[in-house]
Amino acid sequence: MDKATKNIFFLGKGGVGKSTSSALTALHLAETGKTVQLVSLDPAHNQSDIFEKKFAEKAVKINTNLTVKEVDIDYWVKKYLSDIQFQVKRSYSYLTAFNLENYLDIIKYSPGIEEYALLMAYKNIRKKAKGVDYIIFDMPPTALTLKFLTLPHLSLIWLDNLLDLRNKIIEKRQIITKVKLGKKEIETDKIRNKLHEQIKDYREVKTIFEDKEKTFLNLVMNTDKLSFSESELIVDNLNKFNISIKNIFLNKYHDDFDISEIRNKYKQSGIQVLPASNKPLLGVAVLNDYLRALPAFIEM
Ligand SMILES: Nc1ncnc2c1ncn2[C@@H]1O[C@H](COP(=O)(O)OP(=O)(O)OP(=O)(O)O)[C@@H](O)[C@H]1O
Ligand SMILES: [Mg+2]
Repeated sequence: MDKATKNIFFLGKGGVGKSTSSALTALHLAETGKTVQLVSLDPAHNQSDIFEKKFAEKAVKINTNLTVKEVDIDYWVKKYLSDIQFQVKRSYSYLTAFNLENYLDIIKYSPGIEEYALLMAYKNIRKKAKGVDYIIFDMPPTALTLKFLTLPHLSLIWLDNLLDLRNKIIEKRQIITKVKLGKKEIETDKIRNKLHEQIKDYREVKTIFEDKEKTFLNLVMNTDKLSFSESELIVDNLNKFNISIKNIFLNKYHDDFDISEIRNKYKQSGIQVLPASNKPLLGVAVLNDYLRALPAFIEM
């Protein structure tokens, strides 16, 4: 994983302009010489319409500095479940008697799977994006986005408790097998090792999500009450998890709107104003024209 690569997430209420703002930011940063990968994590995948190009899991080059890809969430759900199946079979060999496949068919539809799959996709994207300056994530609807961003924190609480429990079990049963390997002693409790591995993994992601130098959250809103109140909900939820909003993207802005209320409310965040365009913001040429007409673009 390239630790220098920065994450930029675009989130906000449905239809406010997350995909458009992500695309504009990607083109802008690429124009300033940064290498950028724009990734759609939203199953609705608007980037194909915006760039007027077909995208998939494999990154497509837009220009020297910019590639775009769309994450196939169904693929990652299946991959996540088959990984679980593999681990369960390996760790609990006595369970092979019953048919795990049947259970997995049910688990596929249970709540909570999508965010785990998204996190798995995220880790894969970061691993593959070596040397990329910025990965820009066009995020899914708010509920899933919040679950995704808070998953490392919440999983660590679970894992710490599970590890505690496992340690107690091991202590009680006195089943720790110590294998001598030269001078090193290695504990061979597979479940405990797996828990340690997962804790390390989640800590790494959590640290990056909370790092204000590495992860920038851009909250997109319009000048209407509904997008304001959803934004407030997002900010309140994320604050509880030590994750803060870097910038507000006030999109579809009209001159007659008084921006001071937003400036007062989000004093800690930068504000990027994106005026309402009178023609559809579709195609690279139109987006570039729109960017050139902006008085300024906020620094990331
Ligand atoms: N500044 C703008 N001026 C005019 N139209 C805009 C602007 N920004 C976005 N739009 C239009 O508004 C619609 C929604 O924008 P977009 O798809 O970017 O939003 P979104 O938040 O990604 O939506 P979804 O929640 O469906 O993913 C699109 O038709 C888009 O072209
Ligand atoms: Mg979108």
